[in-house]
Amino acid sequence: MGLSREKLIQAVSGQMPEKRWKHTLGVMESAVMLAEKYGADPVKADLAAILHDVAKYWPVAEMEAVIRDNGLNKELLQHDKQLWHSEVGAFVAKRDYGVEDSEVINAIRWHTSGRVGMSLLDKVVCLADYIEPGRDFPGVDHIREQAEHSLEEGLIAGFDSTISLLISQRRVIYPLTVLSRNDLIAQL
Ligand SMILES: [Fe+2]
Ligand SMILES: [Fe+2]
Repeated sequence: MGLSREKLIQAVSGQMPEKRWKHTLGVMESAVMLAEKYGADPVKADLAAILHDVAKYWPVAEMEAVIRDNGLNKELLQHDKQLWHSEVGAFVAKRDYGVEDSEVINAIRWHTSGRVGMSLLDKVVCLADYIEPGRDFPGVDHIREQAEHSLEEGLIAGFDSTISLLISQRRVIYPLTVLSRNDLIAQL
């Protein structure tokens, strides 16, 4: 770990508007709460949460360049730009902020889409992103209720809400989100 937590927070908060930083603070709070509840490492959950949206407000061209120039997942470039910041965030967490822990890096990388075989930390950060206290969207209370008794049920409710929204807006669904949801159902 290259930077102190305080310096890291300073550096990351400077890369986004205040509103998104507030969201990040909420994700930190929820991720630590879920980690403690479900037996993940709260220190890793906190670190992943601090960094999870670090690239969210980067210019699209910069995200694309990082993906192309560093051999990251180019398939993402065929899909919604909203998905790019997770891949780029995971990369810059390591390159620019000295995060070496692959569990933390993976939790950042998969926080939007999930993946088949999500780790405990992946689940904690992804679900925290849905239920942090500042979130207010149709169905968020149902996700919060599910999160009270099961990480997997919470995430299934989260992915269902994402998929339903995309369908209602006639937008393309990222296939991995569907695979992640199916895998969570299979795990139960
Ligand atoms: Fe994100
Ligand atoms: Fe987020």
